[in-house]
Amino acid sequence: MKRENHAISIIDRFDLESSAATEFRRLIYNLNGAYAAKVKRAGGEAAGSRGMDITGDRKTILVTSAVVSEGKSTTTAFLGICSAKLKERRTLLIDCDMRRPNLHRLFSMEREQGLVEYLTEGLPSSRMIKKTELDKLDMITAGKHIDNPTEVFDATRIGKLIEEVADMYDFIVVDSPPVLPVSDPMLLANVVDGVLLVVKAGETHRDVVIRARDLLAGSGDRLLGVVLNNLNNALPYYFSPGYSSYENVKN
Ligand SMILES: Nc1ncnc2c1ncn2[C@@H]1O[C@H](COP(=O)(O)OP(=O)(O)O)[C@@H](O)[C@H]1O
Ligand SMILES: [Mg+2]
Repeated sequence: MKRENHAISIIDRFDLESSAATEFRRLIYNLNGAYAAKVKRAGGEAAGSRGMDITGDRKTILVTSAVVSEGKSTTTAFLGICSAKLKERRTLLIDCDMRRPNLHRLFSMEREQGLVEYLTEGLPSSRMIKKTELDKLDMITAGKHIDNPTEVFDATRIGKLIEEVADMYDFIVVDSPPVLPVSDPMLLANVVDGVLLVVKAGETHRDVVIRARDLLAGSGDRLLGVVLNNLNNALPYYFSPGYSSYENVKN
């Protein structure tokens, strides 16, 4: 995919040897475990709507948070890069935040010809899916700006889109608006297999997080876990990457 401008894509800034990359590898691993445990608790029935094979890697994850700027889009992007680059899984990112979309910016792509065009003009998935610079990583951007996102948003149709493209991917990560101010993520929770709640540690108030969790619990109970972002600013020094770094030495 041609870059929109000369901005540096998040792919170029992602260091595979960094502590962040390690955490995202752990996150992917933990997501698999959390999903399998949830399916088991549900009596072997897949938690998702499509009865997915839990032994496979094909899962659809919704990334959301209680309020704005907790790190949803950043988490979605890193999850996608790690999944595609480290695990070599065919991965699709979908930007379902039509109000404050960010994925196209992070990957230096055009915003247009995405979800909004699918919902308003019936743009087919073949024309919506954009290639990133990573072989195994594709993207559906949010689409053009509209003044009436609440009206245009349609979780059922987004669910149909996910179903339509699911066979082409091992892992689909859906970025979304925050849960408290917007109802979209609650509705999207019903069309994915699991939900990941990003919490900005040290900033988002406990009660706000609890409210978000309760709202999500009311929509299919698909919450798989929480990603604590901003930990460097919230935890004691011995949790910082510098304290526990394990460098790759030459000799
Ligand atoms: N762990 C972090 N450390 C530093 N900056 C971060 C971190 N996580 C997110 N950010 C920054 O915070 C801002 C909001 O992040 P973003 O992922 O866009 O949040 P959201 O999608 O939840 O609104 C962005 O500028 C992003 O680069
Ligand atoms: Mg965002």
